[in-house]
Amino acid sequence: MLAAKADFPLLGTTMRGRSLVYLDSAATTQKPRAVIEALTRAYECGNANVHRGAYELSERATALYEETRERVARFVGAGDPREIVFTRNATEAINLVARSWALATLKQGDELIVSEIEHHSNLVPWQEVARITGARLSHLELRPDGTLDLGAMTSRTKLVAVTGASNVLGTIVPVRRLVGMAHAVGALVLVDGAQMVPQMPVNVTELGCDFLAFSSHKMLGPTGVGVLWARRELLEAMEPIVFGGGMIREVWRGGSSFGEVPWRFEAGTSSYAEVVAFGEALRYLGTIGMAAVREHEKTVAGYALGRLLDDGRFELYGPLDPEIRAGVVSFNFGAIHPHDVATILDGEGIAVRAGHHCCMPLMRKLGVAATVRASVYVYNGQEDIDRLLSAFGQVERIFGKQRRGACRTDLSSGLAPGSIEVAGQGR
Ligand SMILES: Cc1ncc(COP(=O)(O)O)c(C=O)c1O
Repeated sequence: MLAAKADFPLLGTTMRGRSLVYLDSAATTQKPRAVIEALTRAYECGNANVHRGAYELSERATALYEETRERVARFVGAGDPREIVFTRNATEAINLVARSWALATLKQGDELIVSEIEHHSNLVPWQEVARITGARLSHLELRPDGTLDLGAMTSRTKLVAVTGASNVLGTIVPVRRLVGMAHAVGALVLVDGAQMVPQMPVNVTELGCDFLAFSSHKMLGPTGVGVLWARRELLEAMEPIVFGGGMIREVWRGGSSFGEVPWRFEAGTSSYAEVVAFGEALRYLGTIGMAAVREHEKTVAGYALGRLLDDGRFELYGPLDPEIRAGVVSFNFGAIHPHDVATILDGEGIAVRAGHHCCMPLMRKLGVAATVRASVYVYNGQEDIDRLLSAFGQVERIFGKQRRGACRTDLSSGLAPGSIEVAGQGR
């Protein structure tokens, strides 16, 4: 493993009487002691409201909060810390772009492109934008090999909102190519970086994208902190969507003027302690190095894929090429429901996710109701994958022997034509 398990207090505990094997980092990562201590320190030694007080404690808190903004900017290669907006999570960051930029920009006849592998957080906000503005929502299609067909864009295309890495298939999307295609027709690109930013080096200047959203809690940081990075001129042109304290320049009885970016998007009391502890998580990751994190994810996920494939009883989803795959392995085991699999694994002290992973249209495309998902991070090693595989002995003791030969990576067999058309559905 890349980071010492001993750095993560929770990884030293037992679940159901067995030492915990945590394989659900795509949902949220565990926190190193350094981050937990930074959070405690913020409350014990530095607690005050930021941007408010004229006393030393508040000034210190404000300085730490703004230093973290600078650290976040450096982490994603942004030239200007004022391009960093703190939100509650990636979902809120995407919604900020949808409610502010997209509602003010899109109109009937425009096209908004997402993909078939999007998390609901990068799909439902765009369905709403399409419903309200009359813009058409199109989907980049998933190919049988687990990659995306980048399709075609036209002068009507105004925004491409796509994940950098799939939370189900692990597919790493060629963002730079998509940006080239989108910019060629005058469209902007939003990258949902919730899985990408924690797992690989990301530099917004090199990627060339226009918006990037991600969450602290998926990269060793606390919950309650997300980030929207956007090009400065886009942020300057965007209206705030949450109004109140901290975001104004001047308020009169009948109206208000708003402050500068990014603060005009951060109304109300900020999650100061969590933001500062997020800075500690970035420091921890920076010490490891994001290139090393990516290599590690490739190695451990590649090992898991190899073992599951060799075993032959598993149905696997997503690309087999580790070069285009993040540290996420989704699978099914015979005809056994993923929830049953996850419950039995839980009995062995192994935490995996089972369900639709907030990707219901993708599940329909795969022709399954759910999958089991094992996702790894810096504290996982091959021994965790070995524990996972050996626990399937217990699954078979309960459910009976599963036949060999069910393994497939082809994603197309479950596809019912039109079954994933989502625009306008469900309302
Ligand atoms: C690809 C992707 N996008 C967006 C999100 C939403 O992240 P959050 O719940 O932190 O807002 C997730 C969370 O699992 C995700 O995996």
